[in-house]
Amino acid sequence: MRNIFLKGINTQSMNSQPLIEILESCIGCNKCVEVCPRYLFSIENKKAVITNFDPCHDCGHCLAICPVDAIIHHRMIMNTLEEDFPPVGKSLSYDQVLETIRQRRSIRLFTDKIVSDEDISKLIELGRYAPSGHNHCRVSYTVINGRKEVEHILENMIQLFKKMKKQLNSKIISFFAILAGKGKFFAQARRNLYRLESHIYHWEKGIDKVLHYSSTLILIHVDRTGSPIEDCNIAAQNIMLGAPTLGLGATYIGYLLKSWENSEKIREIIGLPDGHTLYACLAIGYPKNKFRRLVPRPESRVTVRG
Ligand SMILES: Cc1cc2nc3c(=O)[nH]c(=O)nc-3n(C[C@H](O)[C@H](O)[C@H](O)COP(=O)(O)O)c2cc1C
Ligand code: SF4
Ligand code: SF4
Repeated sequence: MRNIFLKGINTQSMNSQPLIEILESCIGCNKCVEVCPRYLFSIENKKAVITNFDPCHDCGHCLAICPVDAIIHHRMIMNTLEEDFPPVGKSLSYDQVLETIRQRRSIRLFTDKIVSDEDISKLIELGRYAPSGHNHCRVSYTVINGRKEVEHILENMIQLFKKMKKQLNSKIISFFAILAGKGKFFAQARRNLYRLESHIYHWEKGIDKVLHYSSTLILIHVDRTGSPIEDCNIAAQNIMLGAPTLGLGATYIGYLLKSWENSEKIREIIGLPDGHTLYACLAIGYPKNKFRRLVPRPESRVTVRG
């Protein structure tokens, strides 16, 4: 066994063990060198050694690639290699992936059937395996479960929309917005005012076109800098793509995100952990309607250089 301490970071390993050990069974194939994003491996005398001391970020790629299971990583193998690193299964075909992506729909009318805790956990499990900047894996989830709780948030969103409507109709606020150089932003918001008015009007008639009668919200947030927006939203997309496999639908609710940003009351109700910022909101539930067809989309705008 070749025990290699990673200088400066072996304190992160457990029980002062070396973080990574390379077994004598190493065949020097170079694959760990090729996949490690942190330049941690090199080959000496036809065996892998650790020669660079960038902090390992626990991506697990070296263990997942080694053809002879010659790497032991003390932060990553918590149970057994078989459990923590199960073999890669058969890939879906391009057509299957495209079909899954094309079949995902934003659901605008959920039934009142409650999503089970087990299914919520399964959805969050989909987010768990999303990529994250520097493999931070810090994305966190707050689940609002129960129509009563969801409606409480919705009521407060409607209050916010009413307040915004008042502000957008105010000549004085418009004047000061122009003075502050925010005239364009204000004019754009005014052009979209009809949407807020429509949401207010319909909710007052008991029609929920804001959260779509959902009884479950999955709110995705994170507590540190790096790539928080991307991390949360990629996790959200994983969840949206996987939801139909459980008979569920998911809809990204930008209105709730904006409401969280603009309403202290809504932030208070949602109550994220200290220092966390909300970056993605999903309404979850059982779709009332079944789509018969896929939908068209404009051609992608692509520029190829070189
Ligand atoms: C950033 C973002 C914000 C969105 N906000 C809302 C929203 O507040 N309410 C809603 O019903 N749909 C919302 N959507 C869903 C889009 O409107 C939807 O993707 C679009 O209508 C296309 O339909 P599809 O998702 O079924 O392909 C949002 C999507 C994104 C990416
Ligand atoms: S991938 Fe495994 S066998 Fe190949 S060089 Fe690295 S430790 Fe050795
Ligand atoms: S876990 Fe990732 S970063 Fe760490 S040594 Fe292995 S490949 Fe490199």
